[in-house]
Amino acid sequence: MAWVEHAYPDAEALTAAVAARLHAACAEALQAHGRATLALAGGRTPLPIYRALAATTLHWPQVVALPGDDRCVTHDHPASNVSALRAAFAMADGLVVESLTVADGDPDASLAHARRALAPLHATAFDAVVLGMGEDAHTASLFPGNPALPAAMAPDAGEDAFALVPDPLPPEAPFPRITLGLARLLRARHLHLLVTGARKREVLRAAQATHDPLHMPVSAVLHAPEVTVHIHWSP
Ligand code: 6PG
Repeated sequence: MAWVEHAYPDAEALTAAVAARLHAACAEALQAHGRATLALAGGRTPLPIYRALAATTLHWPQVVALPGDDRCVTHDHPASNVSALRAAFAMADGLVVESLTVADGDPDASLAHARRALAPLHATAFDAVVLGMGEDAHTASLFPGNPALPAAMAPDAGEDAFALVPDPLPPEAPFPRITLGLARLLRARHLHLLVTGARKREVLRAAQATHDPLHMPVSAVLHAPEVTVHIHWSP
């Protein structure tokens, strides 16, 4: 279990710092093995980071990004993470943004698609993973108390992607989900967790104090053995 906390005076400072770290991770990976792979959080907080990263100079055709989770909605739906990623990275010419969902958002077809898309990456550590956190201590789409959690959070999970229907459905995105499993998310060279605001900081502190994966899924990330999580916080 290890984490490093980075506190910033405001969202702009957090955005600049995390974008710089992601750029460095990509540049290092491109230099070392000619490609970079990122798994990126959905939601609203990280979008300025992605736009800032897209404005940097990288050999984008050798970079692959994918959402760490997505909502099972059509790709033109405002709640689609893959569409938000593609929009945020519009300036990154040649970047491939893989999807975990199919265009019509069907959950069963999306799960099959996600597993096919992830299979070639199975043995590869992501060069960077960005996670967000909800006030219910969910991360990615690993939602507390969900019956899909034991399989999705198993260290020896046989699959890299899982379907999950949050219960209750979160009001800000009331949809079934496809999520990378915990073991897949943790196979990362650099792991970043974004936490903003006082309420989420309280939830973070609770998750740091208690390793309770089923009730606080983010605690499974924080307490994962042999993993260092970079926690980025701003008011
Ligand atoms: C999603 C995310 C989710 C998100 C948190 C925080 O699809 O909703 O992947 O895990 O990171 O809910 O979302 P905000 O950044 O919008 O607060």
